[in-house]
This record gives sequence, C-alpha cells and structure tokens, in this order.
Amino acid sequence: MKFFIDTANLEQISRAQSLGILDGVTTNPSLMAKEGVKGKEQIFKHYKAICNIVNGPVSAEVFATDYEGMIKEGEELYAIDPTKITIKLPCTEDGIRAVKYFADKGYRTNCTLVFTVGQALLAAKAGATYCSPFVGRLDDICEDGISLIRDIVNMYQYYGFGTQVLAASIRHTNHILKCIEVGADVATCPLKPILSLIDHPLTTKGLDIFNQAAASMKE
Ligand code: G3P
Repeated sequence: MKFFIDTANLEQISRAQSLGILDGVTTNPSLMAKEGVKGKEQIFKHYKAICNIVNGPVSAEVFATDYEGMIKEGEELYAIDPTKITIKLPCTEDGIRAVKYFADKGYRTNCTLVFTVGQALLAAKAGATYCSPFVGRLDDICEDGISLIRDIVNMYQYYGFGTQVLAASIRHTNHILKCIEVGADVATCPLKPILSLIDHPLTTKGLDIFNQAAASMKE
C-alpha cells in the first residue's frame, strides 16, 4: 500500500519524506488555509515548494465549483509541475466532467469527496487516476468508512478499472491497518498516525535491554 501524507505543512512533509517511505502528498482547501497562504501567487508558490520536497504525486484541489472554472484552474495548477501535480476535483456533475476532460488529456486526477460505490464508479468511468473515499467522515455519521473502501476495491477489481483507491480522511493507525486488510491502493494520512505505526512497547523495551547489554560491554 502506498502512503501519501495528507497535509500542506512543509515541515511535516519533509519529515515524512526523510523517513524514505513517502509516495505522495494530498492537500485540500482546508489544509492549505491552515498554512496561512493567501492569494494565487502564495498558493502556487506553496504547491511548488511541496513538489520540490516530495518524489511523487501532489494533489492540488481546484477552488472552482463550475466546469469552466475547474478546467481553467486545473490547467494552471498542472503547469506548476506537470511531473507531480494531480488535479483534485470534487465528485459533482461538473467535477466528473472535468475529470473526464483532464483524463482525456493524459493529466493525473484525483476525484475527491467520494462517499458511495456509485460515485466511485463514475470517477473510474471518467478516467480518474485516484478516487478518494473519506473514511473518517463516514465513521463520524455512524457509517462504516472501511467497508466503503473494501466495496470500491472489489468493484474496481471486478470490472478491471485502473483507478486507484486512495483512502482519505484517515484519522488513526487502526484506519491504516484496516486499509491494508481491505486492499486500498493508497492511504493518505496525517503525520501522526504514520509515525504511530512505528511505536510498539516491546520494541521500546527490547531496545532498552539491548542498550543495557551494549553499555555493559563498553571498556
Ligand atoms: O483526505 C481528506 C482529509 O483531509 C479530510 O480529513 O479528518 O477532515 O475528515 P478529515
């Protein structure tokens, strides 16, 4: 399973990149706003800075909600770094049309805000590179986000779609482990749950024991 980091914070992206396990980055308007960037120039500079850190796709979401606006903005975002930028578009009527437009041009796209298998089917038929179902937000309303990931993975396999299932709105380590179980192609996570995967009390305890042994052998 690939790991993307779900943040626009440059420090956190650099930290994940330095681990050597990072496959890409996803951002959205909320995550960009958190970094305090304002205006087109700053926003584009920020995406460029992210692209310079990571060796992989960087999802940049359009702010426009109408088809023409999405096309214009998507083209501009893609031009920031055509080797990395993935145009992130919402799963709406205009968004699906825009996914199809960019897919036909060979651009990478990420169809976001997906909450049903039906939406995932449309994203794949439009040719999205990634489909982003939101796990945590479904759990928030007492639905089962991980079941949706499993159902989309199975549906894509059954029909042979090339679209990758990018599990989003991942909140904790258990979400990541469950994504592995159901075969998500990618999990995009905040830094904390990625780092939490490293921790185990027996690893800490075992290292203490080894450190003591190493200290006892010093001359
Ligand atoms: O990947 C989508 C993500 O940023 C949304 O996460 O926690 O706001 O549902 P959350």
